[in-house]
Amino acid sequence: MKINARLKKIGDLVEANSFCLDVGCDHALLDIYLIKQRKMEHAVASDIAPGPLEQAKKNIQREGLEDQIETRLGPGLEPYTKDINTIIISGMGGRNIIGILKAKPKVLKQIDTLILSPNNYQEDVKKYICKNGFYIANEEFVRDNRFIYQIIVLKRGERRYTKKEYFFGPVFLEKKGPLFREYYTRELKSREILLSMLPKNYYLKRLQVKKEIAMIQKEITD
Ligand SMILES: C[S@@+](CC[C@H](N)C(=O)[O-])C[C@H]1O[C@@H](n2cnc3c(N)ncnc32)[C@H](O)[C@@H]1O
Repeated sequence: MKINARLKKIGDLVEANSFCLDVGCDHALLDIYLIKQRKMEHAVASDIAPGPLEQAKKNIQREGLEDQIETRLGPGLEPYTKDINTIIISGMGGRNIIGILKAKPKVLKQIDTLILSPNNYQEDVKKYICKNGFYIANEEFVRDNRFIYQIIVLKRGERRYTKKEYFFGPVFLEKKGPLFREYYTRELKSREILLSMLPKNYYLKRLQVKKEIAMIQKEITD
C-alpha cells in the first residue's frame, strides 16, 4: 500500500523491535508499513472513531496482517496495554495531543518512547512533555506535498531547555539545514503578516511577535 513521505519518515524513526500504539491510526497505513517494511512483530492501531477504524481493519485484512496488527476503538491512550513501549500520535492538532497525554499520566510513566507529529502548537507540546518526564532525543522535518512537518522523538529522562530551544527545537537548532531555513522562513512570513494586521493597541502581542521575528531572522541568517 502506498504511504506518504510524512508517515514513512515517522515509521523510519521507530526503533527496531518496538511495540507501538498508533493513536488516531485512521487508515493504519503507518502500522502496515511498520510490519511490512520495518519488520516489527506487532502493533496496535487505535482510533476514537469507528469509521476510520473500519477502514483500518479493511486495509489490514487486505494485507493479511490481522495477526500482527490489532485494532482497538477508544480515545487517546485508553487502548494502551502494558507491553507497549512506544506511542505514536501524528496528524492531529498540538492541543489535542496535549489533552491526550494529560489524561493518562500513569501511561506516560510506563513507556520509553513517544513519537509526536503535531500539526500546530509544536512548542507547547514540547514544553508539556518535557515537563512530564521526557526529553527531546531527535527532531526531523519532512516535506510532504507543499507542507513541511515536524516529527519529535521523545525519550524518558530529564533535560532543561531554554526558551529559544523550546521555540526552535533543541535538535533542530543543532542540525539546522535547508528544511530548517525553509520552515522558519515560512514562519517568519506568517508572523510579518500577523504583525501587519494586529491593531496598535495589542501592545503585548505585537511585542511578542516582533521578538519572534527578530529571533527567527537571526537564526536563519546565521
Ligand atoms: C488526520 S487523522 C491522522 C491519521 C494518522 N495518524 C496520520 O498521521 O496520518 C486524525 C485521526 O485521529 C483520530 N483522533 C482524533 N482525536 C483522537 C483521540 N483523542 N483519540 C484517538 N484518536 C483520535 C481521528 O478519528 C482521525 O482518524
